[in-house]
Amino acid sequence: MSTKEQVLYTLLEENKAVSGEKLARRLGVSRTAVWKAITQLRRDGYKISACTNRGYRLAEGSDVITESEIRRWLTAETMGKTMEIYPCLNSTNLRARAASVTGAPEGLLVVADSQSGGRGRFGRVFYSPGRSGVYMSLVLRPQVHAGIAARITSLAAVAAARAIDALAGTQVQIKWVNDLYLNDRKVGGILCEASVEVESRHLEAVILGIGINVASMEFPKELKGIATSIGNECETAVSRSHLIAEICNQMEILYPQLTSGEFLAENRTRSNVIGREVTVCRGNERYQATATDIDGEGRLIVTTPEGTRVLDSGEISLKLGEKKA
Ligand code: BTN
Repeated sequence: MSTKEQVLYTLLEENKAVSGEKLARRLGVSRTAVWKAITQLRRDGYKISACTNRGYRLAEGSDVITESEIRRWLTAETMGKTMEIYPCLNSTNLRARAASVTGAPEGLLVVADSQSGGRGRFGRVFYSPGRSGVYMSLVLRPQVHAGIAARITSLAAVAAARAIDALAGTQVQIKWVNDLYLNDRKVGGILCEASVEVESRHLEAVILGIGINVASMEFPKELKGIATSIGNECETAVSRSHLIAEICNQMEILYPQLTSGEFLAENRTRSNVIGREVTVCRGNERYQATATDIDGEGRLIVTTPEGTRVLDSGEISLKLGEKKA
């Protein structure tokens, strides 16, 4: 961890003014290094007050993700039992996958404040700026065959939607199969990746990645009008650590329903595609259809003038915003 990050986390954990001298002693660096770190943090947007004789203090409302703050809200016993928190990662999914290969237990939670290579479905980039989003991955080891494991995306969508609603008082909708929507704009997405043992076809791990725009107010131009954040859509301030913990809590409640598919009823009621005109994209195929239902396997049922089709993969876009987020 850089001196800047160490200073930040010390101020956060202390939650009171800490003198430059004490910080320097604690971190084993010079007072000049502490001063430089404070300057950089302020430049990054953190509000740090300096009181004569008492030292530096992080202003209330600085939403920094820490393990202790996540644990404060965590009731789940497996999800998040072990966790890794990073200021910046290429992708939490990649880190979680590497950890799973070396035997990480089910429920390992990997979180990053920002991602330099956040990944979305179909090789897209997931915009992951610092201090404003939740970027988390859970290592899962479901003892089910791949067909059932494919439902994890739908299950996680319900878990994340419930968590956002609980903290922000919103009504998140799910755009089949992995997108979270608020007021017809994408507020988050899910990327589930599996590792399968080639010879035995045994499902070794599923990496569940969840990304949520929490406080971002600005988006790059290609996402304007398509993406939104919780902060853009409601006035309640949401703590990112609290949201991460609540997603883990909801995952723990819903995960036992993976085989029964009980959670799919809520997936259906939260759907913003059922009953709407959609464009279906599957490989090179692209056609117009009406989404009519989500079946007991989590597949989307669409009707076209040629008949009914059952989609277990692919992507749909809503008529309203033909562009994809
Ligand atoms: C999508 O919108 O297509 C899915 C987005 C998934 C983003 C999350 S952020 C945490 C995890 N790490 C990644 O690189 N991607 C997922």
